[in-house]
Amino acid sequence: MNKLDCQSASEIVIFGALGDLSRRKLLPALYQLEACGLINEKSRIVGVARQNHNVEEFKTIVLENISNFIEGTLDEEVLARFTARLVYQQLDMKEASAYESLAVTLSAGNDTRIYYFSTPPAIYGDICDGLHNVNLISDNDRVVMEKPIGHCLESSKVINNLIARFFTENQIYRIDHYLGKETVLNLLVLRFANSLFTTNWDRNSIDHVQITVAESVGIEGRWGFYDDAGQMRDMIQSHLLQILSLLAMEPPADLSAESIRAEKLKAVKALCPINRTNVKDKTVRGQYADGFLNGIAVPGYLNEKDANTNSKTETFVAIKAEINNWRWSGVPFYLRTGKRMPMKHSEIVVHFKEQPHNIFKDSYNDLPANKLTIRLQPDEGVELQMMNKIPGIASQMNIQENKLDLSFNDTYQNQRVIDAYERLMLEVLNGNQTLFVSREEVEAAWTWADSIIDAWQATNEAPKSYAAGSWGPVSSISLIARDDRQWVE
Ligand code: BG6
Repeated sequence: MNKLDCQSASEIVIFGALGDLSRRKLLPALYQLEACGLINEKSRIVGVARQNHNVEEFKTIVLENISNFIEGTLDEEVLARFTARLVYQQLDMKEASAYESLAVTLSAGNDTRIYYFSTPPAIYGDICDGLHNVNLISDNDRVVMEKPIGHCLESSKVINNLIARFFTENQIYRIDHYLGKETVLNLLVLRFANSLFTTNWDRNSIDHVQITVAESVGIEGRWGFYDDAGQMRDMIQSHLLQILSLLAMEPPADLSAESIRAEKLKAVKALCPINRTNVKDKTVRGQYADGFLNGIAVPGYLNEKDANTNSKTETFVAIKAEINNWRWSGVPFYLRTGKRMPMKHSEIVVHFKEQPHNIFKDSYNDLPANKLTIRLQPDEGVELQMMNKIPGIASQMNIQENKLDLSFNDTYQNQRVIDAYERLMLEVLNGNQTLFVSREEVEAAWTWADSIIDAWQATNEAPKSYAAGSWGPVSSISLIARDDRQWVE
């Protein structure tokens, strides 16, 4: 089959086409798909935004962004093909009558439409109503939404209900961009394509799991969104729970969206609730104070430009999560994520159980347990820490801890790192929902997160302070140390 025939022709309509996400991620991702010949030759990309521009001005803006956000030289031929697809529609998305003009623009194109809502969720309802009023929604259309879906369970239901008035669940693609990351996708392969882990992936072999998603950036001027959300809603409810569910889920029957999403959902639903009775033992929330990052002084959260100086919003969260099921009973999953940590660094470390008996006591008294490290970003790779004999002649057996290190950089040297949005846009074009979050998953994740947030609010304690450039508040060390364990750093 010719590559260009692999998806049917569609109108890819981006609401908020001049916004940050669209400029940094969506349009560059579509360009890359163009370069790989993965967009149907008849498809058009329709940018919708409030600003008044003609299509030529829009093309210029897109070109600038693509060259800013894509590394390396751009291919003139690909660019020409790509820009020829671009269409611009100025629209006040809150104004019902304005959608007539969009209908005229879209009538010149394909019958199948992919609507990407790259706007604040507050106007999703207006967009749906506007499209519906001018008959721009049909059974073939798809809608793509960004996380976070809501601010809590109830508000997520409001958003989902608004969309559900016009789109069925199998038309809705809820993005969590972590699901498009190569290393996160690789979790499926690692777990289900290696017989080594068929029998060793449960409470009998695993002592505990650590998931760290650390960022060196701070709030980056996103006061409007972040101060209201905090790290719990922004990162744990979505990205970290997605990683956790892929690690913890039962083997799916196949790779279909139904099978994978059903298993992930069961894992999230099995999370042991954290509430007012146990929140102090199971969680730590922190907020960065003034500190140093790579030797440079950086302001604390409350001293950032335009800061809400009374803010009690957490920029760091550590949680001891437990899963109440047969596979994971007694195996904690320690989650940790924060802003202004020493570096951007995300990894999963699976700590296996110690050997029941040590026959190498003469040379190694305290045999360390095996550790599987999955480096999500940067320096993507998989590493297995194991014991090995040091070669050489000696009366006693000298042994050492070594690692089998599969660095993706070294192994796949000529492979470009695919951005998560490229993968996700391709899956939307293909109509495959496997890498998107179902409504039930969103609701299960909010149910768990809301209970923690409620418990924090009830205690009314300020988050613990940590210096920017450190690994979080001291109490996050105690959280894991209480169980005689320590964070891998
Ligand atoms: C976003 C959050 O979803 O993910 C941001 O809103 C965060 O606060 C970002 O910085 C992290 O994504 P990545 O891909 O850089 O790890």
